[in-house]
Amino acid sequence: MREELLAFVSRRGTLLEPDAIDFLLGQQDPIAPLRAFLEKCSEMPFVVTLHDVVDAGTIARQAAARARPLPVEAVVTAQVSVPASFRREGEPAGGRDADVRILRDITGRSTCEGTIEDFTRYFRHRFHVLRNLLLARRELAGAQDIAKARKSTREVRIIGMVADVRTTKNGHRILELEDESETVPVLVPSDSQLAAESVVMDEVVGVVGTANDRGLVIAQSLVRPDIPTARPFHGTKEHVRAAFMSDIHVGSRTFLEDKWSKVSAWLGGDDEVARSIRYLVVSGDVVDGIGVYPRQDEELAIDDIYGQYEALATMMAALPDRIAVVMSPGNHDAVRPAEPQPAFPTSIQKLFDSNITFAGNPCLLGIEGVRILSYHGRSMDDLVSAVPGLSYHRPIDAMKAMLRMRHLAPIYGGKTPIAPEAEDHLIVSEVPDLFATGHVHSVGVDAYRGVVLVNSSTWQAQTPYQKMRNIDPMPARLPIVDLATGQAIIREF
Ligand SMILES: [Fe+2]
Ligand SMILES: [Fe+2]
Repeated sequence: MREELLAFVSRRGTLLEPDAIDFLLGQQDPIAPLRAFLEKCSEMPFVVTLHDVVDAGTIARQAAARARPLPVEAVVTAQVSVPASFRREGEPAGGRDADVRILRDITGRSTCEGTIEDFTRYFRHRFHVLRNLLLARRELAGAQDIAKARKSTREVRIIGMVADVRTTKNGHRILELEDESETVPVLVPSDSQLAAESVVMDEVVGVVGTANDRGLVIAQSLVRPDIPTARPFHGTKEHVRAAFMSDIHVGSRTFLEDKWSKVSAWLGGDDEVARSIRYLVVSGDVVDGIGVYPRQDEELAIDDIYGQYEALATMMAALPDRIAVVMSPGNHDAVRPAEPQPAFPTSIQKLFDSNITFAGNPCLLGIEGVRILSYHGRSMDDLVSAVPGLSYHRPIDAMKAMLRMRHLAPIYGGKTPIAPEAEDHLIVSEVPDLFATGHVHSVGVDAYRGVVLVNSSTWQAQTPYQKMRNIDPMPARLPIVDLATGQAIIREF
């Protein structure tokens, strides 16, 4: 019954307090009080407490006495309900002449329940979208289904999802490439130019090669969806600047209060660059959270999740009013861990003042017409371990790899939990003007084929956990981008 109960809450995107679990398991029908409570909630709570379910038990008993089945509509609504953001798609940020729009995120659109069918549909969507991007590549014009290509003895062009990557004892690599028709092994010879090219599980690639009579395709070239041609930066008319932050980790003992005071004072001061900053994009891990890793409580200065967000809200309120903030969650924040993550629930949003726009992770933003893709960057953990040469110190390289694959988190089943939504929100379906990430507590700015790249440091010193894993953070750096030209600088505090 415990499993059923936990599956029920996880399907609804909420959590149960341990005391509430014990109470419910003592009931004749453990799910009834919970369902009764969730039905009277206008939005899904972050956590359901003992008090909530005890109260709801009375309602459930009354409902049972009336012996009426639950209206189907009510059940469906509860399953798809997720926390709503104060401002949604297309609505400008309030009060001032700031121009912030959330063009795309998952908030309010989650439908998945984690069934096998959901996963099938999710991967099918991923494959179709990325295949269409690949079909637009000249090298893959006339690409065939794998089943058809296998019978060919001439040059073949195929597109598939990588189902396996292995290395033979002679150093050749074999990719299992899969489409809806069939799977085929693709040989990447160890002495070819392609040998240095990394391929990761579950990415969608095109292959030009020759099929042999044993059903093997010998690769001559690998084609990625990529950003096919460099584009000029599509900027604002006036020199308005945006600053980028992530991984503030408020509530941690290692949060750098003195560095924060410095950056906050600088932003509110007379410096010419500071005064031109009108926007602040915050890409997740805004607080340290609770229960994110074992014995985290020993590392916390604030051990209450709402207390952490309250402290952050006070810090944000002290920033100058001209700065419009867009804030999205990361893996330490109080939303579901599976990506794509929705914006913070109203219970958290209401702690902040109206200068903040809340978005999901990832999210595509329009800031004065400049398209900014903000993604926390959890998948870098998986990319760094899968791709030789990538490292936590060079997040920009991982970001370029994501753009070449046109996917933010290609590897399924690693450290990045992925929710099988009907559409794959982690595909980079539209080329942004600027791509921002965080998570690795490093920093960097660069450009790739006209897209400005920003990795946005941290405001937390090295934690004992990072020390143990030899991770050397680069805290208290503020990347700043001129939205007219795309020119990026990093200011250290
Ligand atoms: Fe972080
Ligand atoms: Fe993170």
